[in-house]
Amino acid sequence: MEKPSHVAETPASGPSSGSTFPPVVTGGNKGVGLEVCRQLAAQGVTVILTARDEKRGKDAVESICRESNLSNVVFHQLDVRDDSSVASLARHIESRYGELDILVNNAAVVGVAADEEGLKALNLDAETWTSGRAATVLKDVFQNTYEVARDCLDTNYYGCKRVTEALLPLLKLSKSGAKIVNASSLASELKRMPNEELRKDLSNIDIWDEARIEAVLNTFMDDLKNGRLEEAGWPAMLPAYSVSKMVINLYTRILARRYPEMRVNCVRPGFVRTDINWNLGTLTPEQGARGPVMLALLPQDGPTGCYFDQTEMVNVW
Ligand SMILES: NC(=O)c1ccc[n+]([C@@H]2O[C@H](COP(=O)([O-])OP(=O)(O)OC[C@H]3O[C@@H](n4cnc5c(N)ncnc54)[C@H](OP(=O)(O)O)[C@@H]3O)[C@@H](O)[C@H]2O)c1
Repeated sequence: MEKPSHVAETPASGPSSGSTFPPVVTGGNKGVGLEVCRQLAAQGVTVILTARDEKRGKDAVESICRESNLSNVVFHQLDVRDDSSVASLARHIESRYGELDILVNNAAVVGVAADEEGLKALNLDAETWTSGRAATVLKDVFQNTYEVARDCLDTNYYGCKRVTEALLPLLKLSKSGAKIVNASSLASELKRMPNEELRKDLSNIDIWDEARIEAVLNTFMDDLKNGRLEEAGWPAMLPAYSVSKMVINLYTRILARRYPEMRVNCVRPGFVRTDINWNLGTLTPEQGARGPVMLALLPQDGPTGCYFDQTEMVNVW
């Protein structure tokens, strides 16, 4: 990709990242993503807050300006499920900045249709929820419909891949060392995969590429359509969400292997009180954003291809 002659803005400076072109954060209008934008901006980095809905995105930028007195957050529309929206963001960054240093793939959906009243009435404590032991009782309040699961995979995995592939040519031009941060989850941990054969496969990174991931996701969707999720040994708790995050971990490792010059990592923000878990989480978005922000600002010789539980590196595969 040619570097344009009319690069308009001087890169902003981040504390530990050296000279940094504005990071892109997906799903930046609320929850952890909004807080990632705020914390990066507070560290002096100009941030591109993206959101699929223009009003929600612009309101979010305004809230950061108003509440934190920061003016270095700019908005760009991005629906991670929409090819033309993704291409439009890539064109904007190419023409405005010519390269990209940091991409935070944060946008996601939970992948079940929930009876919220019923869910709240269950009064689950955080431990039961995060351990995955709640799967049986949650069967009555969660519906794993084909359409909602398809939308979940298309947002959480294919959306991340779509945005990453569109921005990779610009990330490859980064002079300060590109960083990609993918939002993962406790639900991605392989001990939650009942299917033993698949669990073994998922822990062997050498055999995976995007085509193999797609094949596994197609099998998952077929099993869902045929009412075979339990029989085939897919995760009982939030099956589409869990599978989407398991493959996010794989995709992170594939990218890290393919681009050793980049720092590509995935992170679980913690059990954060946001809309994705019907505000049942126990951490604040401010706490949840610390891990993604740390990874976005990693030094060039920092870890790559790793999973972080908040700010701690852990082995989940
Ligand atoms: N909260 C937790 O306890 C927790 C735990 C583990 C992992 N995570 C992960 O952390 C990340 C952030 O989650 P959160 O807790 O902040 O959830 P959230 O408050 O529900 O935020 C999700 C964000 O994703 C956006 N989004 C959804 N579909 C999109 C699309 N097609 N295009 C662009 N943006 C889209 C949402 O935008 P709209 O407002 O337009 O819907 C929203 O901005 C997710 O990847 C999640 O899986 C969260």
